[in-house]
Amino acid sequence: MKVLVTGGAGYLGSHTVLELLAAGHEAVVLDDFSNASPRAMSALGMLANREIAWTEGDIRDAGCLDDVLGGGGFDAVMHFAGLKAVGESVEEPLRYYGTNVAGTACLLERMEAHGVRTLVFSSSATVYRVADTEDPAPLGENAPTGAESPYGRTKLIVEELLRDLCAAKPDWRVSVLRYFNAVGAHPSGVIGEDPTGVPRNLLPCIAQVAVGRRELLEVFGNDYPTRDGTCVRDYLHVVDLARAHIRAVEYLERRPGFAVHNLGTGRGHTVFEAIRAFERASGKTIPYRIVGRRPGDAPVTLADPERAREELGWTAEWDLDRMCADLWRWQSTHPEGFE
Ligand SMILES: NC(=O)c1ccc[n+]([C@@H]2O[C@H](COP(=O)([O-])OP(=O)(O)OC[C@H]3O[C@@H](n4cnc5c(N)ncnc54)[C@H](O)[C@@H]3O)[C@@H](O)[C@H]2O)c1
Repeated sequence: MKVLVTGGAGYLGSHTVLELLAAGHEAVVLDDFSNASPRAMSALGMLANREIAWTEGDIRDAGCLDDVLGGGGFDAVMHFAGLKAVGESVEEPLRYYGTNVAGTACLLERMEAHGVRTLVFSSSATVYRVADTEDPAPLGENAPTGAESPYGRTKLIVEELLRDLCAAKPDWRVSVLRYFNAVGAHPSGVIGEDPTGVPRNLLPCIAQVAVGRRELLEVFGNDYPTRDGTCVRDYLHVVDLARAHIRAVEYLERRPGFAVHNLGTGRGHTVFEAIRAFERASGKTIPYRIVGRRPGDAPVTLADPERAREELGWTAEWDLDRMCADLWRWQSTHPEGFE
């Protein structure tokens, strides 16, 4: 298959490009580099041992999409491009709705115009309603949704748009993948996550403390009803996540229509467990300080990944120790990211 990967220079997109190529597919990247470095593209080329076609452009620019899609021959689009910082989305809803919702609508219109009607969409576990119970069941795809932030709502709105599109046009094939906590880096240590500003996610923060970019880690609350008082999350290796996209696009070849799948391991780790795993992987001590809870953080978030196993034939293979080892290889060799 020839696949257009929007946001393909970013964290998840770049790892997926490599997996696409490894599976024998062709990948073309469209990215505006608003949250990625062009160096990611040269790193990708080096790892893949070939030139990877890419265009600098914005998914909100219909002319640019026409140029790329008009190049012809695309079988599918994997749509990673978007804005993803929850806190920022509260301060800048217009920018978030503009890029995530209007940008996606623009992409879908141009795909329809060029007869490319297969899409894999990057959604998120943030679409699920936060459960405040002590021992919540793992979240299946039918768990109640209800996003807490403008970011989460943009994902939900796009999901609804895609569901409506498939209902109206039976020749569309759409896979919505709801990611839990993607972490780690490519085992080569050549590509990885390169967050701008203060990372909001736990593992990138720990990695920056380990490498000396930050003094200490803030742990948001140790009085949750969990085994050690800190929040439990379902961490997923980025390469496992990337591989699921290949399964998803191949699934769509067999099954037209609209599908939703969770991507997670189904296993949870507390903040302290994640710190200890990273200390083992890096040989560094991670100094931390307990601070107050963050509003909106659920005590426990766990995926039920059963549907992805059954329908996509996909299961996460790599555990937290592997995630930390690969993240450390990337972070220790690229303390300032790609720059
Ligand atoms: N990282 C996670 O844990 C996670 C979890 C759930 C969902 N997601 C979703 O997955 C997708 C990819 O996430 P990521 O972590 O790789 O983020 P990222 O910021 O690394 O990648 C997004 C890419 O899109 C590009 N981009 C942004 N706006 C664009 C636009 N208007 N036109 C073209 N390109 C644009 C950025 O330059 C960047 O390279 C996002 O949609 C995000 O919401 C990520």
